[in-house]
Amino acid sequence: MDMSAVRNDFPTIRKKDGVYLDSACQSLRPDRVIRAVLEYYEDFPTCGGRSIYKMSAKVSAVTDEAREKAAEFFGTDDPDCYVFTKNCTEGINTVAKGCVLKKGDAVVTTDTEHNSNNVPWAVLSEEIGIKRRYSISGEDGGFSIENFKNAMGKDVKMVSIHHVNNVTGCVVPIKEVAEIAHDVGAKVLIDGSQAAPHMKVDLKKADVDFYSLSVHKMLGPSGMGILYGKREALEGIRPLTTGGGAVGLVTHDHADLAPIPNKFEAGLQNYSGIAGTKAALDYLTDVGMERVLEHDRMLMRSIFKRTDGINGLSLVGPDDPDRRCGVFSFNIGGLSPHDIAMTLDKIDNIMIRSGQHCAHPFFASRGIEGSARASVYLYNNEEDIERFASALRKVAEKFGSGR
Ligand code: ALA
Repeated sequence: MDMSAVRNDFPTIRKKDGVYLDSACQSLRPDRVIRAVLEYYEDFPTCGGRSIYKMSAKVSAVTDEAREKAAEFFGTDDPDCYVFTKNCTEGINTVAKGCVLKKGDAVVTTDTEHNSNNVPWAVLSEEIGIKRRYSISGEDGGFSIENFKNAMGKDVKMVSIHHVNNVTGCVVPIKEVAEIAHDVGAKVLIDGSQAAPHMKVDLKKADVDFYSLSVHKMLGPSGMGILYGKREALEGIRPLTTGGGAVGLVTHDHADLAPIPNKFEAGLQNYSGIAGTKAALDYLTDVGMERVLEHDRMLMRSIFKRTDGINGLSLVGPDDPDRRCGVFSFNIGGLSPHDIAMTLDKIDNIMIRSGQHCAHPFFASRGIEGSARASVYLYNNEEDIERFASALRKVAEKFGSGR
């Protein structure tokens, strides 16, 4: 598949004259995904796993196919190890609450986690007294394996770390992390929401116990996520929600929970989202994740080159484009991040995110108010980057303190 042809698969790009640079929040969707969602509503809008008529059997079949696709996409053999969730946050909460930690058990995260991988542990710390321990990042937000080792100890029961940071784009070597964590008997949960859209993730090789991600950041429908877990890891945790479809024998006093993955999927599910998830993974497979990564790298280098020398520009994160996976966070002296984002939108329909990107402790620890953030994906091209850089140059020259 030709990368320039990719753009034509996205109706938002065909119809709107804007530059979408907020894919780290949520990606655009190709026709194939939208069609899969529509097909569900038009052709078989019923529930799965319960009724026996043909239309309902189709829903169950589509759900099974989506799970099989997920297993293939992430390099593992067992589709039952993939739980459909509503987002990465729900997957992390499922593990955090389901693994039943005790007072005094320690959990290691980095000091630069997204709220979805900070708040659940903060709440458990307040509620039951788990200990928090942090792998301290470098000044530019990069991961330090030495600092990670220093945070480890016999009391660590869980390591929960991002794969790619949503502010800096820095990549964490999750296989090494898993080896070190397993040596002390800790389980490993990875927040893969910024990694899975951009690179080939091989979960068998990575050997992590859990991996949670948001499908809406990788071309899939809104409100869809996946929680992967090794079979014994998923079997060893309790579900966040219980109810119909997630049980075997039930009396008034007792319920046998269903085997994985169903025990985690109580109640009717987001079937159109599941159908769209399969379509998104098929689409990314056709493009090829190696090519996606290569394309995103090319765009990141281009952003660095084209924004070089802009008055008052300061970067949040490393100044090496090859160390950033799809995100360019920055500030312009004299302007608030929201002013930058609003002005870019106003003058040339350029859509970026601004604020603290749900990573409040990251900014607080560095004494930075927040940042503007442009994030790229496979449908962006050099022209988008040129439009962004030239509008940003104008904003800095007209309104920045370096003018
Ligand atoms: N995690 C999303 C982001 O970083 C919301 O934009």
